[in-house]
Amino acid sequence: MNSSGPIGVFDSGYGGLTILSEFQALLPEYDYLYLGDNARAPYGNRSYDVVYDFTLEAIKFLWEKGCRMVIVACNTSSAKALRTIQQRDLKNMDSDFRVLGVIRPTTETIGSMSETQHVGVLGTEGTVNSNSYGIELKKFSPEIVLTQQSCPMWVPLIESNKHLSVSGKAIIKEDFELLISKDPLIDTVLLACTHYPIIVPYLKEITESHIKIVSQGPIVAAKLKDYLQRHTSLRGQISKGGKCQFMTTENPQVFNQSAESFMSIKVSAEQVRL
Ligand code: DGL
Repeated sequence: MNSSGPIGVFDSGYGGLTILSEFQALLPEYDYLYLGDNARAPYGNRSYDVVYDFTLEAIKFLWEKGCRMVIVACNTSSAKALRTIQQRDLKNMDSDFRVLGVIRPTTETIGSMSETQHVGVLGTEGTVNSNSYGIELKKFSPEIVLTQQSCPMWVPLIESNKHLSVSGKAIIKEDFELLISKDPLIDTVLLACTHYPIIVPYLKEITESHIKIVSQGPIVAAKLKDYLQRHTSLRGQISKGGKCQFMTTENPQVFNQSAESFMSIKVSAEQVRL
């Protein structure tokens, strides 16, 4: 395929917007196509097979829309489906098409951010139970002591805009404190779910000041920039102009409102079926 196309950014819902906004800030020259599978979110508690099927459908959809590369801006999909798709399914698309996730770039970087060398990871059940962070981090920073805590209610709370309700805050606080109680030496907490940066202001309120809360967006954006610098042929296939299209599998009005309130951006999404 010779024509150029946008960078596809995919998430189960709104979370990938936290990654997209960092891409736009660091790489404003490229075009983007965002796809949120809001109708089927959350993915976090679903089985491997289901996450794989949904993720593959989304990637094929973005490929058919002309994307030359897709960033799976969803940790659950990156943990449970990405490797199989990269090894088994991409060869049925075209050889230049690239699909990258968010776990590898994050684990390349996170170890160097901790002074105590004790890092905490908060993620969905799917991400935590897969131990993808544990496996990948061992490759880059084997000295790091990693403690993980799944937060099964956080994505449903954020998708339904109830994360700042009294009960929502209580659930978030309980999970956060559980993580720290497992290892009081933790000085760096990675938000290993792209939805979670939306609650950073609240997390900061309940976190002791010596603990850093790390969102993945800036890390993944810097790694993408570096990747594109090294892959000149792929870079040449990405369309430029700074345009961004939004697609959702749910009601577009609801998507627009949420995107605006969560990310302070105005969007006009199109509803699509995968
Ligand atoms: N933003 C997705 C992630 O990073 C949420 C997954 C879900 O839908 O539960 O894992």
